[in-house]
Amino acid sequence: MARKFFVGGNWKMNGDFASVDGIVAFLNQSADNSNVDVVVAPPAPYLAYAKANLKAGVLVAAQNCYKTAKGAFTGEISPAMIKDLGLEWVILGHSERRHVFGESDALIAEKTVHALESGIKVIFCIGEKLEEREAGHTKDVNFRQLQAIVDKGVSWENIVIAYEPVWAIGTGKTASPEQAQEVHEWVRAFLKEKVSPAVADATRIIYGGSVTADNAAELGKKPDIDGFLVGGASLKPDFVKIINARS
Ligand code: G3H
Repeated sequence: MARKFFVGGNWKMNGDFASVDGIVAFLNQSADNSNVDVVVAPPAPYLAYAKANLKAGVLVAAQNCYKTAKGAFTGEISPAMIKDLGLEWVILGHSERRHVFGESDALIAEKTVHALESGIKVIFCIGEKLEEREAGHTKDVNFRQLQAIVDKGVSWENIVIAYEPVWAIGTGKTASPEQAQEVHEWVRAFLKEKVSPAVADATRIIYGGSVTADNAAELGKKPDIDGFLVGGASLKPDFVKIINARS
C-alpha cells in the first residue's frame, strides 16, 4: 500500500510574530503538492495565529499536550484546547520532552491515548541516545518506547511514528539513509508482529534529525522512510525543498 509522504516542521521554542509571518509567507507561496501531508508545529502562543494565516494545505500541530482535558495543571495545554483552535495534530514523546523535561514512557503513553480519544492525531516520537546506540541498544530502546503505546491498545490510523535518533537532533550529524532505513525497517517489523501486518503496512514512519534540503532526497528514497520531522531547517525557506523532496 502506498503511504502518503508526511513532512512535519517542529519550530520548537523559536520565533516571534515577525518570524512566524516570514515562515507563513514562504509556506503560503509554495506550490500546492497533493502528494505530501504538511504539518507545522509552532510554539503554543502562536498556534492560533499560524492557523489563521496559513493556507489550507498546511496543517498546524501543537508541540505537546497533557493527559487530561482540563484542570489544575499550570502551564499545560489539553487536546481539547488544541481541537478548540481547529487543529488536528500534536507531537508527543519528542526527545526534548523525554530527556530535558523527564517525561516517562508511561506518561507519554497516557498523553497519546488521551489525545487520540480527544480526536487529535499524534506524531509519536521515538529514538535512542548516542550511548544507547554505541552500547548496541538501539532496537531495544525504540521498541520499549513503542511498546508503551502498543500496551494501551491504541488505534493506529491517527498515529505517525517519528524516528529521531537523539544524537542526530540539532547536531548536523544526520543518520545515513542506511542507518535510518535499518531502524525504520525494524519498527515496521515490530508493528507487524505486535499489532498487525495491516497497521505495519499503513503506518507512516518518518525520520527526524538534522534533515536538510541537501540530504532529504536521499533519505526519502528509502522504502521505509515515509517523510520527515524537521527542526531547524523548518524555520527557513529551504523547508519547501524538503516538502518536495520526493516529488
Ligand atoms: O523535531 C525535530 C527534530 O528534533 C529534529 O530537529 O532538524 O533541528 O535536528 P533538527
